[in-house]
Amino acid sequence: MTPATYDNLRRLIFEKAGIVFGDDKVYLLETRLNPVARKHGLADIDALAAALRGANKPLLGDFVDALTTNETFFFRDTKPFDEFRQFVLPDIMARRGAERHLRIWSAACSTGQEAYSLAMLLRETGIHQQGWRIDIVGTDISRAVLARAQEGAFTQFEVQRGLPIQLLIKYFRQVGDRWEIAPEVKAMVQFREGNLMGDLSALGTFNVVFCRNVLIYFELAQKTAILGRIAKIMKPDGFLFLGGAETVIGVSDKFGIVPNRRGIYHPVTAPAPGATPNAVFSAPARA
Ligand SMILES: C[S@@+](CC[C@H](N)C(=O)[O-])C[C@H]1O[C@@H](n2cnc3c(N)ncnc32)[C@H](O)[C@@H]1O
Repeated sequence: MTPATYDNLRRLIFEKAGIVFGDDKVYLLETRLNPVARKHGLADIDALAAALRGANKPLLGDFVDALTTNETFFFRDTKPFDEFRQFVLPDIMARRGAERHLRIWSAACSTGQEAYSLAMLLRETGIHQQGWRIDIVGTDISRAVLARAQEGAFTQFEVQRGLPIQLLIKYFRQVGDRWEIAPEVKAMVQFREGNLMGDLSALGTFNVVFCRNVLIYFELAQKTAILGRIAKIMKPDGFLFLGGAETVIGVSDKFGIVPNRRGIYHPVTAPAPGATPNAVFSAPARA
C-alpha cells in the first residue's frame, strides 16, 4: 500500500466512524483490509482504496466493519453491572415509580453481550413483574456485529466469558455448537444501526446509557461531541456508564461525576437562575 493510499483510507474511516488510525497502524489496517479486498475481487489495497471512491455501499460497509474493534463479553468488568443493580436501579425505581418505564441504551453494543447482560440482570431482579416496562436499545456502526447481536446465538467460547453458569443454564438453550438466548430475554432488546458521530435524537430519551470501551478510539474533539449528543438524549436524572479507561473529566462539561461511583456520570442540567448546578442529582453515600 502506498503512503497516499494509507492516508486516504485513514481519512475515510475517520470521516465515516470517527476512528483514528495513527501513523504506526499501517500493518493493522493492511491485515484487516486484505480480506475485504479479496472478498470484492480487488487485486490489493490500493485497488480497494480506488473502489471506495465510487458509491459502492456494500464495499463501504465491509470497510467500516473491518476497521472496528468489536471485543466484548458478558458482564464485562462485573463492577458496572453490580453498581447498576445495587445503586442505579433502586435510584431510578424510586424517582420514576410513577411512570414505570425504564429505557437503557447500549451505545456501541458490538455483538450484544452488554445489552443481553442488562436484560438478564433485570429479569433476575423481577422488575418486569412489578409493572415496569423495559426497553433496551443496542446500537452499533457495524452491520456485521449487529446481525450477530440480533441473532442472539453465541459460541461456547463467548458464553464462557463473563456469563455465570446459572444464567447460562437459565437463559440459554444449546442448539448445535451454539447457545441461543431465551426469547423472553431477546424480546427485551432491540438492535439498530447507529453512528455515534451522527444525529442520535431518533433513539428517544434514556434513563441509563452504557457507552463503554468505544470513546477510546476517538480524539478529544470527537469524544466531546459524542458526549454532548448523548447528554441531549438522557433524562436529567439519568446515569451514564463509561469504560474503565474512559472519563468525562476534561472532556465534556455536560456530565458530572457521581460521588464515590467510579465510571458512572450524570447529566449536568443548566442551573435555573440563582440555583446550584446539578440540583436534580444528589447521590446517596456509598453503603
Ligand atoms: C470494543 S467494542 C465495545 C463493546 C461494548 N460496549 C463493551 O464494552 O464490551 C466497540 C464497538 O464500538 C463500535 N463503534 C466504533 N465506532 C463507532 C461509531 N462511530 N458509532 C457507533 N459504534 C461504533 C464498534 O463497531 C464496536 O462494536
